[in-house]
Amino acid sequence: MKKIVGAGLSIAALTSAAFAANSLDSNPNYKKLKNFHPQGVSNDQCLMCHKTMDPGIIADWKHSKHAKAGVGCVECHVVPKDYPTAFKAHPMQGSNWTVQIAVSSVTCAKCHAKEVTEYLNSGHARGAAQWLAVNGSGHGKAMTKLSYHYESLKGNAPSLNGVKGLGKGIRTDGSVFQANEKNPKLADLNVANICIQCHGTTIKLDSQGKPLPTTWPNDGIASLYPDGGVGNCLSCHSRHKFSAAEARHPASCGNCHLGPDHPMKEVFESSVHGHIFDTNEEDYKFDTGEQIPGKTLRAATCFTCHMAAINGLKATHNVSLRLKWNLWAPDSFLRTAGYETAGWAFWKGGGKVSKKTVIRGNPKAGNPNGPEAARADMKKVCAVCHEATFTNNYFQRIDAAVKIYNQYKTFANKMMKDLKSKGLIKSDVWSDPFWKLYYYLWHHEGRRFRHGAAMGSPDYAHWHGVFQVMQDIREMKDIYNYRMKMLKKYKDPKKVLENEPPMPVVTHE
Ligand code: HEC
Ligand code: HEC
Ligand code: HEC
Ligand code: HEC
Ligand code: HEC
Ligand code: HEC
Ligand code: HEC
Ligand code: HEC
Repeated sequence: MKKIVGAGLSIAALTSAAFAANSLDSNPNYKKLKNFHPQGVSNDQCLMCHKTMDPGIIADWKHSKHAKAGVGCVECHVVPKDYPTAFKAHPMQGSNWTVQIAVSSVTCAKCHAKEVTEYLNSGHARGAAQWLAVNGSGHGKAMTKLSYHYESLKGNAPSLNGVKGLGKGIRTDGSVFQANEKNPKLADLNVANICIQCHGTTIKLDSQGKPLPTTWPNDGIASLYPDGGVGNCLSCHSRHKFSAAEARHPASCGNCHLGPDHPMKEVFESSVHGHIFDTNEEDYKFDTGEQIPGKTLRAATCFTCHMAAINGLKATHNVSLRLKWNLWAPDSFLRTAGYETAGWAFWKGGGKVSKKTVIRGNPKAGNPNGPEAARADMKKVCAVCHEATFTNNYFQRIDAAVKIYNQYKTFANKMMKDLKSKGLIKSDVWSDPFWKLYYYLWHHEGRRFRHGAAMGSPDYAHWHGVFQVMQDIREMKDIYNYRMKMLKKYKDPKKVLENEPPMPVVTHE
């Protein structure tokens, strides 16, 4: 089994000279776990109790390659008694070991150094850190508040626009979010239903080593564990089967990459590749990583384009490696920053949560050889099934879509800047129609435009995308012109906003 030999070797082969700084050994807990030998424990002992306690877990494990290769409960769950994730109250313990519940990628890295290293180099690894980080711009704070829902238990306003009950806690002066800050437990428990399930969070344990409900269980892509582990490898390889075949199926990406703001699932399904997949799924073989047209697949799926070994490209767990543009950002830009560092910052910190270890990371992260190298790699994927004329023409159109989107956005930016400088944006931005349109323009519709174009869905590129961007711009212009006209009349921006008639914003799905 090549993966369990020499972590050092595979990393050396992976990282080019310029990016050689990051090594798995930089996490002290990783070193500790790798060199740990529990005494007097066998897998059969675990099964003795857990066979009847957890029949589902045992069944999945029994059907896994792990079970066949002799990797059992012990290899993943048994840790030194003083390990950061040690479950101190487990009924069975040894002289030098106990059990961990929160198994992080530090454990996986003992045997899968290559996959963990690549994962840490990717944009996936910043999934939790980027929204938790609080830096100069206050981005993290704003992100956290976005997830504090508006309704609160306490609050003064009896009604909103005459609707009883709705107005509880809602104020129009920007203090709207604070209601739940007074009751952070309630808000945090709810965040655990939403953002965390896709992005991950910092896993927190009680004094016995049991994870807290505000943070666990979660399936998020990049949770930050007390031992410095980043990522839930189980986001794509659900436990305890940990199957590669399952992860290769597009459905394994689809539980996070969907919906109005990043509809890759829907985009794929409405592309020609998706149509072929849906009508000919029996032609796809997911039990192998080999990508041989006519034998293991007919057309590309998510994993083919973003991760697979194909046409000379190596298989990778760094999903950012083949991306030229950043398409989710408010204004698109080229990915010029090489490997992502957010995951490594936490890994190196060994689990310490601080401003230095929980960082936003770099939205420009991509391929260490630059955006054109990323594009060249993506073209190599296509070249297995399409000719150069086809592929080159196609990518010229993607680049055009990105540039056109940026033009719309620049226009919107100018109006926003002007309104802000004149005091013509409400302090409670979520009740300001101009601000809402601006948000939908980039966060929902502009992304759908770019993602639809990049992955071949005409419906998302046009009707759910640029068509609505174009409508947003017109509506924003109307509001802009109206506010400017009223400012001439009232001279006072506060009066302009107070006297503005309701302008309901239609959210475009
Ligand atoms: C004597 C019976 C027994 C044996 C043997 C045993 N366990 Fe447990 N295990 C339990 C019980 C009971 C719990 C629930 C403890 C609690 O929640 O306080 C538990 C809990 C756990 C949990 C945490 C579940 C959760 O989410 O709360 C894990 C993981 C675990 N055991 C793994 C193991 C492993 C690995 C072994 C073998 C080294 C093992 N157990 C051996 C009885 C046993
Ligand atoms: C390849 C590593 C691996 C092996 C082997 C493994 N586990 Fe786990 N186990 C995990 C991971 C990862 C989690 C989830 C941790 C998280 O979400 O933070 C987990 C979670 C659990 C949980 C809590 C989840 C729940 O649904 O309640 C239990 C209990 C558990 N394992 C028991 C076992 C038992 C018993 C065995 C042996 C049959 C076993 N595990 C084998 C990696 C493993
Ligand atoms: C003690 C070593 C060890 C640990 C720890 C370990 N694995 Fe494995 N893993 C293996 C071996 C051995 C195989 C089997 C390789 C084979 O049969 O080709 C394997 C295979 C896999 C596969 C491929 C399965 C397939 O269907 O081809 C995945 C995915 C995987 N492991 C994920 C994980 C994850 C996630 C963790 C951490 C939660 C983990 N492993 C922890 C040793 C380990
Ligand atoms: C259904 C899964 C899902 C949920 C729920 C979710 N996100 Fe995301 N989020 C994603 C995906 C997928 C992307 C990547 C989009 C892309 O690459 O185009 C993303 C991107 C982002 C980004 C941009 C990436 C960056 O580095 O700045 C931020 C910020 C963000 N999400 C914050 C949040 C917050 C805050 C919440 C909760 C209020 C949340 N997300 C809820 C899946 C989700
Ligand atoms: C558990 C949720 C989840 C699953 C499953 C998931 N992703 Fe992601 N993915 C995310 C989130 C969240 C982000 C945004 C990370 C950020 O920037 O904060 C993301 C970002 C990405 C990015 C952009 C990275 C960047 O640098 O901007 C790519 C590409 C990607 N995912 C591809 C995939 C593919 C392919 C699969 C399936 C094989 C997949 N993802 C499965 C949650 C998920
Ligand atoms: C975004 C989804 C995704 C995430 C997250 C993910 N994997 Fe995978 N993994 C895959 C896919 C897809 C494959 C199949 C790759 C191939 O065939 O080239 C795979 C294959 C593997 C294999 C088998 C490799 C082989 O050569 O047979 C191992 C081992 C593995 N993953 C471990 C991990 C570990 C450890 C983590 C956590 C750091 C992880 N994976 C996180 C999607 C994912
Ligand atoms: C035919 C190949 C192909 C398939 C299939 C495919 N993608 Fe993509 N994907 C691309 C290309 C091309 C880009 C844009 C790359 C660039 O920036 O030049 C992209 C971009 C992305 C991004 C980055 C978006 C951003 O905001 O920067 C994510 C996330 C993503 N794809 C996820 C997925 C998921 C999930 C699936 C399956 C549901 C999928 N892709 C299917 C080719 C593909
Ligand atoms: C494994 C083979 C395979 C790979 C890899 C692949 N495609 Fe395709 N693609 C197909 C097949 C088959 C069709 C259907 C052809 C038809 O419509 O007759 C198709 C259709 C398309 C279509 C729509 C058909 C048309 O004429 O407009 C586009 C666009 C496309 N592919 C772009 C790409 C791009 C871009 C890549 C690389 C990022 C790529 N494909 C990778 C097999 C593949």
